[in-house]
Amino acid sequence: MKFFADTAEIAEIRDLAATGLLDGVTTNPSLIHKSGRDFLEVVKEIAGVVEGPVSAEVVALDHQGMMREAEVLRKIADNIAIKVPLTEDGLKTCKALTSDGTMVNVTLCFSAAQALLAAKAGATFISPFVGRHDDVGFDGMALIADIRLIYDNYDYATQILVASVRHPMHVVEAAKIGADVMTAPPKIIHQLFKHPLTDSGIKSFLADWEKTGQKIG
Ligand code: G3P
Repeated sequence: MKFFADTAEIAEIRDLAATGLLDGVTTNPSLIHKSGRDFLEVVKEIAGVVEGPVSAEVVALDHQGMMREAEVLRKIADNIAIKVPLTEDGLKTCKALTSDGTMVNVTLCFSAAQALLAAKAGATFISPFVGRHDDVGFDGMALIADIRLIYDNYDYATQILVASVRHPMHVVEAAKIGADVMTAPPKIIHQLFKHPLTDSGIKSFLADWEKTGQKIG
């Protein structure tokens, strides 16, 4: 499973990239606003830190406007994935961009029907928002399972990118279903490393080691 960081905070991205476990980054207009940075500048900086895809989202709602913005964004670096919303114009843009060899992340997916359309449009990634789906009383993980089944039925190459991840179990459940990628805020990725029994185990091993009076090297 690929791990993407859902943030535009460069320090957090550098920190995660240093683990060697970070495969890409996703941004959205809200995360850019939160960073307080210039959109094009921060995306360029992120694309220089991670080798994998960096999603940058268009804000136009019409096909021509999306194409114009995508043209600006894809020039930033070779690893930019253009993020488009799951609308008719978004999928038209997706089809045009992917036919031209540009990576496209189709975002704001909330149904299996939408995910099927995105795959038909040649999307590189489909981003179902599990947390926001759960928030309104639906089952985000059931949606991931449905998309996995449909994509496997037809051998669609579109990668399922689980987004709006709110806690470590979202990651584990998505991995059990076989999602290709998950994107999460850095805080959640750091939580994945942690277990209280790991901490207490280290503590007791070190206490016993201390008693041996030995040193390594
Ligand atoms: O980047 C899209 C998605 O991950 C947003 O998550 O927490 O704002 O629903 P959230």
